[in-house]
Amino acid sequence: MSLNQQVIKVGLLGMGTVGRGTYRMLTDNAEYIARRIGAKVEIKKILVRDTTKDRGIQVDPAILTSSIDEILNDPDINIVIEVMGGVDLALDYMRRALKNGQNVVTANKDVMALHSKELFDLALTNNCNILFGASVAGAIPIIRTLRKSLASDRVESISGIINGTTNYILTKMTNEGADFNEVLKEAQAKGYAEADPTADVEGHDAARKIAILASVAFNTHVTADDVYVEGITKISAEDIAYVKELGYIIKLLGIAKFRPEGIEVRVHPTLVPQKHLMASVGGVFNAVFVKGSATGDMMFYGQGAGELPTASAVVADIMDISGDILRNVPKITGCVNYTDKPVLPIGESESRFYIKILIDDKPGVLASIAMVFGNEGVSLATVIQQDAKKPTDDTTELIFITHTAREKHLQNVLHCIKQLSGVKDIASMIRVER
Ligand code: NAP
Ligand code: HSE
Repeated sequence: MSLNQQVIKVGLLGMGTVGRGTYRMLTDNAEYIARRIGAKVEIKKILVRDTTKDRGIQVDPAILTSSIDEILNDPDINIVIEVMGGVDLALDYMRRALKNGQNVVTANKDVMALHSKELFDLALTNNCNILFGASVAGAIPIIRTLRKSLASDRVESISGIINGTTNYILTKMTNEGADFNEVLKEAQAKGYAEADPTADVEGHDAARKIAILASVAFNTHVTADDVYVEGITKISAEDIAYVKELGYIIKLLGIAKFRPEGIEVRVHPTLVPQKHLMASVGGVFNAVFVKGSATGDMMFYGQGAGELPTASAVVADIMDISGDILRNVPKITGCVNYTDKPVLPIGESESRFYIKILIDDKPGVLASIAMVFGNEGVSLATVIQQDAKKPTDDTTELIFITHTAREKHLQNVLHCIKQLSGVKDIASMIRVER
């Protein structure tokens, strides 16, 4: 049989947003895909909950099923594509597929951010593969880039705008001076934000994605539970306006940094200089900034979600695995050589800090605060008191931006400052990236 007469049979788990896009790409681009990989990709079965639901596209009803066994017990199915979402059931189905020797392609960040090590081990033991390019940043080919294109380099750091919902909200707050709750309601009405936006606005979605990126980039095992997380719910329109005057914009970043003693992995609102490339990433768009020791700075930008952008990553993984099947090469995922580098506690992370403190406007308060910074060895880069912005006649605001300091020292500073006479409130503390 010639290569392009061969057929790779796949089973699709889920026919929602990503499943529909995957179906569309595999059917609309069938000829093109067959020419590129040298075989046809045939969708043999599609698992859904409700086989009678109108899916908005023409699908042969005979291939829809609500029985997972029709896919996992079919030895003809080479690749199981998990795009149903959720954790427990999706994990169970992926485990079973890999134990059967079926390859897996998934878009599931929730599973991959918690259980990737177990799934890679299963794939290795059963001589099959699991690819997960769609689980982070949708259309942006960042996982394949880290695994393949940057395989020879040592990644030093990754910082990403990897949640479209929060980037949309922060962009609107920045451009329109609107408050968080107001923009969130509007984003929900337009369908940009989920009815329950907790995972997005509290930073958990970005935490899952940066855990996956850190694992791939540093060849180790980072789970979502290892990531320090702060969301954007406390960011005010006032904070945004204030930092704008200082030349910054606020973005929710997922950050992973390699240090010899361990890895920093965190998600939090971050001050980014307005002239940095990341500052120009607006709306629902995603971007990932990678610093490699040989390659230097690189930025990858694109759509982080949506039917076809996400499906493009799923289908690329299907094509990758199909190529391996056709060439009969060993199915090594490239993510299995864990070195188990420790994840550093947040207190050990290093950053610059923006701090806004509300004080009594009287002699000696600024001096006593400056002394605390000095005592903790935290060096100040910028100190601003704007008389024109006094909230009341007796109260004023001080803004500090530090040089790079260790988080635990900064926390000690804040703790001591709160005890000082004349200090009313630490109004904001936001980390700053260059
Ligand atoms: P979705 O629109 O909610 O679709 C889920 C699909 O899975 C539906 O077709 C549903 O069947 C099926 N399904 C769910 N539970 C099932 C069960 N127990 N048994 C059988 N079928 C079941 O989800 P989605 O937005 O496509 O997301 C899928 C995955 O991709 C998730 O892991 C998500 O995090 C990830 N992802 C999504 C995007 C995006 O832009 N949406 C981007 C990146 C990654 P019915 O239709 O019959 O209910
Ligand atoms: N809720 C996610 C976002 C969808 O806003 O980026 C893509 O993972």
